[in-house]
Amino acid sequence: MLVDETHIEFAKLSDANEIGIMSKNDIERGLGWRYTPESVVKLIHDSEKNVVVARVASKLVGFGIMTYHEDQANLDLLAVKRNYQRMKIGTQIVQWLEKVAITAGVFNIFVQVRVSNTGAVAFYKRLGFLVLEEKKGYYRGIEAGIILAKSLRRMFNAQ
Ligand SMILES: CC(C)(COP(=O)(O)OP(=O)(O)OC[C@H]1O[C@@H](n2cnc3c(N)ncnc32)[C@H](O)[C@@H]1OP(=O)(O)O)[C@@H](O)C(=O)NCCC(=O)NCCS
Repeated sequence: MLVDETHIEFAKLSDANEIGIMSKNDIERGLGWRYTPESVVKLIHDSEKNVVVARVASKLVGFGIMTYHEDQANLDLLAVKRNYQRMKIGTQIVQWLEKVAITAGVFNIFVQVRVSNTGAVAFYKRLGFLVLEEKKGYYRGIEAGIILAKSLRRMFNAQ
């Protein structure tokens, strides 16, 4: 599949169900289900958040959720469907959200990853994130979290 076939856009309310189910199966597994379709609908309506999806043709193949604060942002959730992984779709979603962050004057993006998710840690490092610390019991007391951050200052200056 060509990367060019991927299209990133704001999520529609009708995407909430699929996003919630992907979160349950691919991100929150074993932790309980917080990002239900109902809560995703609220996030889509939340002005501090951007919920975006990646589509190939009209099919949803990935999503990302970013919260924007005054001068920093947090990448809350990100997932790409298994059959579409390692095709740079995750990279495109993060880059799309980073561009919005830069436009909004955000200088640092934070992200948290389950300690067992070594693939995601490798992915974020590849995108320029640095590991800040590991927090014990970060995920509902069940699993440690790795906290990563990326400075957008260089990209901001290059605009
Ligand atoms: C993490 C995730 C979003 C990455 O999305 P993706 O579209 O597959 O990633 P990309 O194709 O853009 O990867 C870019 C680079 O990151 C690195 N990378 C990505 N996944 C990796 C993995 N599982 N192991 C090691 N490196 C990885 C590679 O360097 C890759 O480049 P390459 O394929 O040329 O080697 C995806 O694996 C996923 O949805 N995982 C399940 C949910 C999850 O863990 N979400 C993150 C926590 S919220």
